[in-house]
Amino acid sequence: MIILTIESTCDETAAAVLDDQLQVLGSVVASQLALHERFGGVVPEIAARAHVESILPVIDEALRQAGLTLAELDAVAVATKPGLAGSLLVGLMAAKSLCLALDIPLVAVDHLQAHIFACQLDCDQDLFPCVGMVVSGGHTSLYNCQSPLEFELLGGTIDDAAGEAFDKVAKMLGLPFPGGPAVSAAAEQGDPGRFQFPRSFLNDPERLEFSFSGLKTAVRYQLAGQGQVDFEQLDISAEDVADISASFQEAVVDCLVGKAVLAIQKTGAERLCVGGGVAANRRFRLRLQEQAAEQGFELHIARPELCTDNAVMGAIAIERLKAGLTESLELDIQPGLVRG
Ligand code: KG4
Ligand code: ZN
Repeated sequence: MIILTIESTCDETAAAVLDDQLQVLGSVVASQLALHERFGGVVPEIAARAHVESILPVIDEALRQAGLTLAELDAVAVATKPGLAGSLLVGLMAAKSLCLALDIPLVAVDHLQAHIFACQLDCDQDLFPCVGMVVSGGHTSLYNCQSPLEFELLGGTIDDAAGEAFDKVAKMLGLPFPGGPAVSAAAEQGDPGRFQFPRSFLNDPERLEFSFSGLKTAVRYQLAGQGQVDFEQLDISAEDVADISASFQEAVVDCLVGKAVLAIQKTGAERLCVGGGVAANRRFRLRLQEQAAEQGFELHIARPELCTDNAVMGAIAIERLKAGLTESLELDIQPGLVRG
């Protein structure tokens, strides 16, 4: 069985061709970074228009890499939630058109579940049941995953997502968008112990939740006090940028790792599977590995290029297809929260 997967939830236009053994036959990610960079964030209308331009060439290239034609596809899968409405619509329309023209099934993908499933791509053993964790630009959530079709939410952020906090702190520090890689690179030279930033809920064993807005505000106060300030005018030394980045990153990582371990303890699960853009963070990966060794659970983190948005993780659709969970052409998008 050969499946085409399409991903256009935010600002990457991606397509992949996979078989039912999870072999990746073709995979293309067209980044829109250059279009959004100067705005310091993703501009939804620009994203949607760029998807329109890229979607057909991206699908074409994924098929070319696979050495296959459209006629050889058995199904098309597309991420329908969550994401930017205009962006999601472009992917869904492309998927529906192909399914109609080729008379093959349409499969809906939940982008957050796909982020967790990215771990399965590099693993021969079945990763379910597990605790699944998504740490991305729009979400920071823990799930009890009984199977690739059953995701029960254990807890999430009550305000900002971890990735969003990285992006906002980067902006305050005058670092480029997206902030995660920039803050993480600056943190390499910094002292994580110089500033004591808050770690919300970390010591509350009853809460499997996150909150990063207080941390973001604490960084703001550290940089500029409580008054109005134009961050572009602030002159922050390289040492301060590095120390604030390292101290901020350590606070985020403490919370993420602490709650992931708590979820493992509460559910009794033996395995933790982590995906999403922030899971590419080196410090986070290292700290998770230390905890896995110490606490004795099995750890799977998506490989860095499968942490950020891609279509390969849409392979979760194969599980839905096998279970007969296909969609009619009436299928609609579910934008939900703005970013996945
Ligand atoms: O999953 P993703 O590619 O997109 C969605 O939000 O769906 O995640 C993007 C987020 C951005 O906030 C970005 O700053 C963050 O992931 N990110 C990182 C790193 N690489 C990307 N955050 C921390 N460290 C990184 N190395
Ligand atoms: Zn994502």
